[in-house]
Amino acid sequence: MLYLRNLIYHPTACPTAILKSINLELPPQQLGLIIGPSGSGKSTLLEILSGLAEPTSGGVFWREQELIAEQLQQLAGIVFQFPERHFCGGTILEELRLGHPELGSERVKQALTEVGLEHLSLSAAPYALSGGQQRRLALAVQLIRQPNVLLLDEPTAGLDWSMRQQLVNLLAKLKKDWTLLVVTHDAGDLLAIADRCWTLNHGELLSVDPATLSSGLNQDLRKNSQKAQFIEPPSRQERQEIIESA
Ligand SMILES: Nc1ncnc2c1ncn2[C@@H]1O[C@H](COP(=O)(O)OP(=O)(O)OP(=O)(O)O)[C@@H](O)[C@H]1O
Ligand SMILES: [Mg+2]
Repeated sequence: MLYLRNLIYHPTACPTAILKSINLELPPQQLGLIIGPSGSGKSTLLEILSGLAEPTSGGVFWREQELIAEQLQQLAGIVFQFPERHFCGGTILEELRLGHPELGSERVKQALTEVGLEHLSLSAAPYALSGGQQRRLALAVQLIRQPNVLLLDEPTAGLDWSMRQQLVNLLAKLKKDWTLLVVTHDAGDLLAIADRCWTLNHGELLSVDPATLSSGLNQDLRKNSQKAQFIEPPSRQERQEIIESA
């Protein structure tokens, strides 16, 4: 179980705290989803959980033991937003083995199988993969280290509808073996697979029921689609004016 207890992050240069007394509990093999707008503190929270930043006060616990930054770096694997932008290996094999040259071919194969990329050639260039495959490779890069918790920052950002669906299905499969914490500004596809859910606003975390959020979202979608039916299409003359003014 992952616990955050009264976690505060308040850099001295900031007038207010970026993260305000955060409390969270995430059991193993569950997917926790944190939804918050831009600037609410999502990435900052993941940086602390992955041991890249130190909280001002409060702590992160794993199975009742408080962990320091070095231990968190072992415990957690973080997949940053647009992780494919940070690829530096010339081949899939190099990318997977970066920093871990000791990892054998069995572990490489296992990590690629976890994300459904076992059919790819290990000598293929990461940049030559499709957007969805690159996202999967970025997940495999973390899974190969076998962390206890996988942290994902906006995992579906920039993917088209079908790639998003594939990634959501993959995360649903991964949570059978790993503990996942996902942060996003757009809960849409991810709500369906979330076991626990929170909103983050100005650094304040609030627990919400994924089912309630999901039915609210569906109502909004229905309302918007009803509204859309009443929007008159532009007349021929209006269309001509739009074309001319472009
Ligand atoms: N070390 C720091 N010093 C000062 N301000 C910081 C620091 N780290 C983050 N911030 C500020 O904290 C706030 C939260 O940033 P963060 O990147 O965590 O937001 P976010 O929810 O991930 O946003 P986005 O959805 O745009 O990625 C922002 O206002 C940011 O400018
Ligand atoms: Mg962010």
